[in-house]
Amino acid sequence: MRILFATAEVSPIAKTGGLGDVSGSLPKALAKHGHDIVIFMPLHRQAREWFTRNRTTLEEVLPATQIMWANWAAEASFLRTTLPDTDIPLYLVANDHFFNREQIYAPRADGYDDGIERFTFFCRAVIRACELLGIVPDILHAHDWHTALLPVYLSSGLRGMTEFAATRSVYTIHNLNYQGIGRAAHFSVLGLHSRYWSPDAIEHFGQVNLMKGGIIFADQVTTVSPNYAHEIQTPARGAGLDGVLRSLSFKLTGILNGIDIESWDPETDPNVPSNYSASQMNGKALSKRALLDDAGLRWRAKTPLLSFVSRLVDQKGVDLLIPALEHMLRAGAHVVILGSGESRYEDALMRVGEANSDRCRVWIGFDNALAHRLYAGSDMLLMPSIYEPCGLNQMYALRYGTVPVVRLTGGLVDTVIPFDATNAVEANGFGFVTPSPRDLFTCAWLGMLNFKETRTWKQLQANGMSADFSWDRSALEYDRIYRRAMMAF
Ligand code: ADP
Ligand code: GLC
Repeated sequence: MRILFATAEVSPIAKTGGLGDVSGSLPKALAKHGHDIVIFMPLHRQAREWFTRNRTTLEEVLPATQIMWANWAAEASFLRTTLPDTDIPLYLVANDHFFNREQIYAPRADGYDDGIERFTFFCRAVIRACELLGIVPDILHAHDWHTALLPVYLSSGLRGMTEFAATRSVYTIHNLNYQGIGRAAHFSVLGLHSRYWSPDAIEHFGQVNLMKGGIIFADQVTTVSPNYAHEIQTPARGAGLDGVLRSLSFKLTGILNGIDIESWDPETDPNVPSNYSASQMNGKALSKRALLDDAGLRWRAKTPLLSFVSRLVDQKGVDLLIPALEHMLRAGAHVVILGSGESRYEDALMRVGEANSDRCRVWIGFDNALAHRLYAGSDMLLMPSIYEPCGLNQMYALRYGTVPVVRLTGGLVDTVIPFDATNAVEANGFGFVTPSPRDLFTCAWLGMLNFKETRTWKQLQANGMSADFSWDRSALEYDRIYRRAMMAF
């Protein structure tokens, strides 16, 4: 099948989190299954910088083109390269005003003020490029709120055009809490017929809601773990869209994300100070020493090293982590933290780091190579997420023999088998349920106690390292969903 993948981020070119990782790795797995994929993403400043650093030449595929819709017009340039290390075409939509910015979405937690305009432009430009370049996908696969308009446009007129008559859409929710919400006045930006201003379409309690549109108009909807697919149909986790999702549950499927097992392999990872594998773990101990050196912490036998690598937003449980940290440090742990995000969290974590400089190191920023060193060099990874659609960090940790300590929510339930007295043979991590600093600390403490039990610990590490988180199985499930979408009228 010919699949058009439209996404705001693609790793390693421009990424803020797991959406980038998935967009950089799932297409490879789909291509292996015989699909013919093209990817579209905006030419963010980060992407431009990545191409310059990596001496990638971009081919201009179309002259600067006016994109016109409703009362709007803006110019797009279209450039082409391939997804690194593949021959999958990657199209970049360039417009300096919208995408040549310091950050991909920020500074506000929910993005720049003109988020609706930026991504409406992007979706319109993708469609125009398809028309001009003769790209006729069987499946338009859109991701998160940024590209939610594509299924809407497909159903609202594009399909009436002969070339797109057979195209069907799949919409993947990576995070239901970012919905692309705008004021009522934003409706005029979208260029949709007034009948779409309805609670059965884009309108949600008097506001524009792009994600709602994606969910309603896509032929199939997926989200990134089976457990999250269930959770988002409940009022507690439905972020106001649970009713819509329940009523459309017949076309909603949870497919667990995979990871790129080639770039995330402790045996070959060039970022890891000393490579290792499940059968030869010496390198992990050396990587821990190197990480402690980087962090300015002293190596001490039997002292566990706990890490946290994350966007610093409330989703990730930073409010639980900060009070629990003091207790972990007092109980004898070393802790290293790498994150960036809301300044109240950055400041609070920096303060903990400064007050405990002999036990704790906090790096504020986004640093992929350092993230790899943290997964490799630590004994445990903390992930006290309040909610977690899938979570990739715990899978990276498991693959690197680092035992995850997680709150059992979303995809963490589908990937972490928590240790208890009865299942030491199959467990691969530690889990807690109640979102409180006390429960996080108790869970980490259980981990710290077991860290001293060499046999138990080796078993936990071996269980994690032998799990299969490759994309193979999930790519087959996407294949099934694409086929189902093709059957929609
Ligand atoms: P989310 O997409 O919600 O942020 P995931 O666990 O799916 O969570 O993916 C997070 C990805 O972002 C991982 O690849 C992780 O290593 C990376 N990441 C998060 N914060 C940082 C950071 N400060 N520096 C480098 N990589 C980071
Ligand atoms: C989102 C979610 C995360 C998921 C990622 C990739 O950013 O927060 O849990 O792993 O998307 O699907």
